[in-house]
Amino acid sequence: MTTPQHIAIIMDGNGRWAEARGLPRHAGHQEGVRPVRMCIEESARRGVGALTLFAFSSENWQRPAVEVSSLMQLFLDAIDREVDDLHENKVRLRFIGDRRSLSVKLQARMAASEELMAANPGLRLQVAVSYGGRWDIVQAARRLAAAVASGSLALDAIDETRFARELALGDVPDPDLFIRTGGDHRISNFLLWNLAYTEIHVCESLWPDFDLAAFDAALEAFANRERRFGLTRQQVEERARSA
Ligand code: FPP
Repeated sequence: MTTPQHIAIIMDGNGRWAEARGLPRHAGHQEGVRPVRMCIEESARRGVGALTLFAFSSENWQRPAVEVSSLMQLFLDAIDREVDDLHENKVRLRFIGDRRSLSVKLQARMAASEELMAANPGLRLQVAVSYGGRWDIVQAARRLAAAVASGSLALDAIDETRFARELALGDVPDPDLFIRTGGDHRISNFLLWNLAYTEIHVCESLWPDFDLAAFDAALEAFANRERRFGLTRQQVEERARSA
């Protein structure tokens, strides 16, 4: 079975999971930590190279203040609780997103955990917090524009490869598989550039219910996809034969 080398996930449905049980939305986010752990463990175990999780979008700042602050506390607690275990398992954790709006405390915890794990050879784990695909593209464009303005980069040197290097995931191959739980068929401003040729798997389970069987089903669906990257089936087959 072909294993995706990079999986990206929108973990949707925590709120609905909680509301269906008459619980506050925060209870759904708390329950969402369990499948996060499962996905990390299973990805590492199966030799998936990179896992990118959408934990908090640029747009999520507009949610009720009480939900935002409870999510921020959840991220802090999760870092404190999980860092040693992730490090022991050689995971290389990194956060992507616009950190300027995060608390100084959370920024410091993020930086410290990244530094601790920077040289780890295992699973590359990206957690997107205060992240938006459009923000990502704009900050890449700004960096390139600054380099051109300062004379250190020629305008002609900017092509897709050079542009992609400036993105938050510039040093990670594009996701092979994108999983979205909660049933909605949307990208929701996630990795807009990077998902260009990614296989999409929408799963009806709400995120707290996303279990090993659902993870397996996503990997199986991926293994049965024919990826053509804009080529014809015949071209793909010829290339596979001569590889
Ligand atoms: C979307 O569900 C989920 C979030 C905005 C938060 C995701 C956070 C977690 C899964 C907690 C653990 C994460 C880490 C990285 C430790 P929603 O609230 O939009 O659900 P709804 O569509 O049912 O309202």
